[in-house]
Amino acid sequence: MCGIVGYIGREPAAPILLDGLAHLEYRGYDSAGIAVCKPGGGLEVYKSKGRLEVLSASIDGGVHLPGCTGIGHTRWATHGEPNDVNSHPHVSEDGTFSLVHNGIIENYLEIKESLQKNGVRFTSDTDTEVVAQLLAYYYREGVDILSAVFKVLHRIEGAYALGILCADQSDMLIAARKDAPLLLGYSEGGQFIASDVTAILRHTREVSYMEDGEVAVLTREGIQVYNSLKQPITKERHHVDWEVSAAEKGGYEHFMFKEIMEQPQAIAKTIAPRIRDGQVHFDGLNLTEDAIRDVKKIFILACGSSYHVGMVGKYMLERLLRIPVEVTLASEFRYCDPIVNPGTLAIVISQSGETLDTMAALREAKARGAHVLSIVNVVGSSIARESDDVIYTWAGPEIAVATTKAYSTQLAVLDLLGLYFAKIMDTISPETYTEILEELQRLPEKLEQVLAHKERIQYFASQYFNHNSVFFIGRNLDYAMGLEGSLKLKEISYIHSEAYASGELKHGTISLIEPGTLVLALGTFDPLFDKALSNVIEVKARGADVLALTTEERAADMAKIASGVIAIPSTHQLLLPSLGVVPLQLFAYYVALNRGCDIDKPRNLAKSVTVE
Ligand code: G6P
Repeated sequence: MCGIVGYIGREPAAPILLDGLAHLEYRGYDSAGIAVCKPGGGLEVYKSKGRLEVLSASIDGGVHLPGCTGIGHTRWATHGEPNDVNSHPHVSEDGTFSLVHNGIIENYLEIKESLQKNGVRFTSDTDTEVVAQLLAYYYREGVDILSAVFKVLHRIEGAYALGILCADQSDMLIAARKDAPLLLGYSEGGQFIASDVTAILRHTREVSYMEDGEVAVLTREGIQVYNSLKQPITKERHHVDWEVSAAEKGGYEHFMFKEIMEQPQAIAKTIAPRIRDGQVHFDGLNLTEDAIRDVKKIFILACGSSYHVGMVGKYMLERLLRIPVEVTLASEFRYCDPIVNPGTLAIVISQSGETLDTMAALREAKARGAHVLSIVNVVGSSIARESDDVIYTWAGPEIAVATTKAYSTQLAVLDLLGLYFAKIMDTISPETYTEILEELQRLPEKLEQVLAHKERIQYFASQYFNHNSVFFIGRNLDYAMGLEGSLKLKEISYIHSEAYASGELKHGTISLIEPGTLVLALGTFDPLFDKALSNVIEVKARGADVLALTTEERAADMAKIASGVIAIPSTHQLLLPSLGVVPLQLFAYYVALNRGCDIDKPRNLAKSVTVE
């Protein structure tokens, strides 16, 4: 989704903005632009459809632009097609204001019409332009810049993160936020705004997170933040401990591959601090042991791959806790009049902590009385701040649009949570508890073994990358894992792919199997291995090419029937998806590589979806 960066300081702004935007590219975008205040007054705006390199080349990397105050934007089109005019920054007709915006102004048509009646001429199809025009309109009425900003914020409805420049004030940058992420950065050389900390990590790790309704005025000297009543407030500062290098490719061809390879360390980092003396600890949880004993139902709310983590979590948690777990797409939960009774716990899963639908589901669950515990990767993100409890995954920044290490670490947190709850609820024997915990601790080492066999998966990818349609089949945890494997494949290779519970094959899907159809048969879950084998025989009989995933113990049996077999080490059966998903990620990666796809930035997709 759209990205924002802004800078005011002693250095020329343009190269800093372009570098910041380069670090936001991963979020997904279709056009980019910057605006810089000219030192003697006035604004310079450059924007263009397409990749950031196009913009950067058109202005020689910004080295000839002397202004030290500026804003930049990567746009992911919502209102108005991707083209130069609809790109941000937008400028008011009189050239006084320029701004960048993330979010959607819901009442823009009404404001646009009323401004047009007053003679204001619009150039773009966007909702954003009304903000620039309205700002200039109020400013022309004679109020100061900050008052004009507040007047605009009272008039507009919807979601926004805004970065605003005024041609009359080259030493000021204004930021405002409501329901869209925006943070402030402080450094010796100047001040920053950014929608995502990776944009400014090279310059500072000292940040404040803006809250809804707040407005910030940035000058070369510092930042003053105001609440929605225009009263000055002091913001808490946070230190971000992500390494700058973690957001760089570090010699790898793609972020996705780097992040796949980082999974053993990411899991170790996520689980190690929470295990002491053979026990799981979640220090500082507001959810008391008594409250955990009273939990009667769990909702897992999430989108995309985080939802798939929830699907695995359902099988695992129900097995361990013996209470119902309902996994609901966040985008559906908010509209389905959900039943939340006393004793309902909502587990919200989000890598970014900013997904709009997930945030809305969180608020819905909270409003209905559920305790909300979130599993989030980005410290200080909106979902983390609004939850009753937050457990962070320590995956580090994830840049590739297709998630890998965030998925794995979210799953590891759910496993820990399952053990932690089961002990308190007294639904697990000490032996099983210890067995699962020890296996969890062995996951990083076993994942290294899986990764060591990547060439075998690369080989299979080279055999099958030309298929047009792929089916993932499996039962129970294998089915849940297959959902993620199928999503990975379709999102980065653009191959049509579906995941089915094998039992459903006979109810429709089998009619699509014909000679040469590729089926990924997932048979790692030992209790159902024989059934997995039968399903392989069934699709083979209809001419399918079957690539099977199973455990090392079962590989020989599977090899008698399947066209190709990928084997993973054995572990506790509830943890098998943590190992099994990795070959599926690698398969998707190598297939996409063979097809020449833009792996880190797949078409039409965004890393963090902050609109509905
Ligand atoms: C987008 C991303 C997915 C992600 C989903 C949910 O679709 O491309 O990788 O799983 O959003 O994001 P979240 O940040 O809430 O986990």
